[in-house]
Amino acid sequence: MDKLVIEGGVKLKGEVVISGSKNAVLPILAATLLTDEPCVIKNVPNLRDTNTMLKILRSLGKNVEFNKGIVTVSSTRHTSFIADYKLVSTMRASFCVLGPILAKLKKAKVSLPGGCIIGVRPVDLHLKGIKSLGADITIESGYVHAKASQLKGSQVYLGGVYGSSVLATDNVMMAATLAKGETIIESAACEPEVADLAEFLIKMGAKIKGHGTPIIEIEGVRQLHGAEHSIIPDRIEAGTLMVASLITKGDITIKNVFYQHLGAVVDKLEEAGASISKTDSSLRVRLKRKLKAINVTTLPYPGFPTDMQAQIMSLMSITPGISVITEKIYPDRFMHVAELNRMGAHIQREGPHAIVEGVKQLSGAPVMASDLRASASLVLAGLVARGRTSVSRIYHLERGYENMEKKLQVLGAKIWREKE
Ligand code: UD1
Repeated sequence: MDKLVIEGGVKLKGEVVISGSKNAVLPILAATLLTDEPCVIKNVPNLRDTNTMLKILRSLGKNVEFNKGIVTVSSTRHTSFIADYKLVSTMRASFCVLGPILAKLKKAKVSLPGGCIIGVRPVDLHLKGIKSLGADITIESGYVHAKASQLKGSQVYLGGVYGSSVLATDNVMMAATLAKGETIIESAACEPEVADLAEFLIKMGAKIKGHGTPIIEIEGVRQLHGAEHSIIPDRIEAGTLMVASLITKGDITIKNVFYQHLGAVVDKLEEAGASISKTDSSLRVRLKRKLKAINVTTLPYPGFPTDMQAQIMSLMSITPGISVITEKIYPDRFMHVAELNRMGAHIQREGPHAIVEGVKQLSGAPVMASDLRASASLVLAGLVARGRTSVSRIYHLERGYENMEKKLQVLGAKIWREKE
């Protein structure tokens, strides 16, 4: 296992290019199961999670090639309707193969993904949506068994206790493309990654309207065909590098971003003191004035993303004043608090809130990554801490950031990889 070692204190400067979005590419790869024709997906980030999804596609009988950011998926003669526990349990997003397998093969057996470090993460909304399309669903020995000789369009409300669900919306939308008649998803997730999936499905011949809004209408078609698609830029990677610029008092230009996907992040960072200037598909991010403590509440899109909560907490941990960070999507997503405190931060957790009292200086320490975004927050803290920080278990970081340490090196950071 590798760890990342960081010598803090360098102001980051220069240009960096954002990779394709992890949360867009995973369901889009799953959507290739809806057709036997070849599909070509471009701007694919080379991530641990992407490679897990490619393994799942292979296990289901697809031929997959991945070269220089382009994935080509074609069919073999042997298709399987079983998504195995070993693969699905390593990555929750793999549960979104359920809708496509069921719609295409009329039956599916998909392992339940299980919980994860950031919380319980149930799949009730996925199952409610798929059931509403007329599927017969049972759960046996840790697997969801679903069957339907013909899925039928219906009206389904997908709001849950914590708002809408991204992957449940994806799952039901994919299944509904091949259902008979019209499906209306109410309280659909509005995240740009859901809209990107819909755009790909439309290229495959699906009839979808309203994606990107809380009401999505899908008119089922008899079959879908192969298509080519380029993945949108990763707004969370962009947000993480924006924080990297501010936390080091640097000056970074971030290229290949969709500004319109970053509204809440830009708003909060400007409130905290950032100057963010936009040119075409680039953003220049630096400090306008001294950092100021701000309160942040995570919410479904277009609200502030939960996937940026840990990173903004690192920034607030060295910002004078008190900030309150409230987590409304995953109330237990605070594994990074204890590790940031090991580096000298003053953060107290009170239920779904973290109260951050900014300190003058963090100090480098050995810390442990517990999940993907927590590991990003520790790297950010390491960039500004006095002395040396080592972040172990960085396979979490590799799940969702392509070449993170190389990108930071290009910006001047003293960061390198060592064996544990
Ligand atoms: C996706 C993202 C993840 C992000 C999350 C919230 C991918 C691959 N992952 O995860 O990075 O943090 O959205 O923006 O796109 N819930 C239920 N029942 C369900 C499903 C979800 O109660 O059936 C709850 C969850 O526990 C959570 C909330 O709904 O509290 C939102 O979760 P959801 O949007 O489903 O997250 P994912 O789609 O798994």
